Amino acid sequence: MPIASSRAREYRRSAIRVLFDAAAADPDALRLEVGEPSFPTPSHIVEHAAEAARQGHTGYGPNGGLLSLRELLVDKLDRVDRIGASVDEIVVTPGGMNALYSAFSILLEPGDEVLLPTPGFPNMDEMVRLLGGVPVFYHLRAADGFLPDLDELTSLVTPRTRVMFSNSPSNPTGRVFDGGVVRDLVAFADRHDLWLLSDEVYDELVLDPATGHVPAAWFDEAGRVISIFSFSKVYAMTGWRVGYAVARGDIPQLMRSTQEPQVSCPSTISQKAAEAALTGPREPITAMRDAYAQRAALAVAVARSAGLRAYAPQGTIYMLLDVSAFGADGGLDFALDLLRDQRVSVAPGSVFGPGGAGMVRISLAAAPDTIENGINRIAAQVQRGSG
Ligand SMILES: Cc1ncc(COP(=O)(O)O)c(C=O)c1O
Repeated sequence: MPIASSRAREYRRSAIRVLFDAAAADPDALRLEVGEPSFPTPSHIVEHAAEAARQGHTGYGPNGGLLSLRELLVDKLDRVDRIGASVDEIVVTPGGMNALYSAFSILLEPGDEVLLPTPGFPNMDEMVRLLGGVPVFYHLRAADGFLPDLDELTSLVTPRTRVMFSNSPSNPTGRVFDGGVVRDLVAFADRHDLWLLSDEVYDELVLDPATGHVPAAWFDEAGRVISIFSFSKVYAMTGWRVGYAVARGDIPQLMRSTQEPQVSCPSTISQKAAEAALTGPREPITAMRDAYAQRAALAVAVARSAGLRAYAPQGTIYMLLDVSAFGADGGLDFALDLLRDQRVSVAPGSVFGPGGAGMVRISLAAAPDTIENGINRIAAQVQRGSG
């Protein structure tokens, strides 16, 4: 029997999925590891999709998404992100994940290096490897407010560096980069002639009213920014799988045509649902965001009174807790012990790369009492370990 490719065999399963499966075996476990919104998809979106299916919107669509959805996205990008884009510059994909995969697949030659943040969204590391690229980590240090260090970034650039991946609002740090930081990142990409893949899937999940989302596209004069958005978290539509990329030049066309051998096209019914998300009432969307903001405030207060250092998120639906002061490394074994001893599951910091050491990520998608009890149990575990 021939063996599977080395890329496939070297693929490492996400430790968050390991925790997910272990926690699913305990019906009483408090689930703080998942990135699943705790809200169902708003009912007007579901109704619209059902009606669209009845009306026959059940066939294949264009590779890069329905024109009717892309027209609405032109308006959304203008209204929400203040990005001017034409319908041809938008590529709709099955989730933000596929937008990222498609972008990397058209940018990378084997052996090309990609600058990835740590702590950062774990799937990027494996995605780059799967496509033959080489991940190179840059740090987002807590002491620097989880902002990139341009000197470090510069020191990591080699002749093989091709893409810089950036993510704001950031998973898992919750940090929202301000205009100065985003401008510097675009200038850095310009200076070193890199593509800037800007993951902005949490654009409408800014929780801190003192800050706002700044798209990298604002500063992009050379057409090197590829922006990635998603319906998953903002509209509680994770299972519908709708995301999109916005780019200039020949990038959208390359992404569109390479959709054919990957997925053919995004789901037509899901795109109809996405249209309803864009045209329907805003209240359900802002209500979800406000609930996440309240839970973030609660989580920070509970963690601090339990003696844990918490990094208040400015955006996303996550929060990092520092467990290192008690000697815990926040790794997979720590998370599995925590699940066994305290029946609470978290995302181990180690999944976010070397910069996640000593931390765990909790999700604000859980109900407030689950968040409160879960944090108290985490504190009990680390304090027990240190004593
Ligand atoms: C930073 C970031 N980018 C992209 C995604 C992909 O989301 P989706 O494929 O559901 O759009 C996620 C999901 O958790 C994320 O956290």
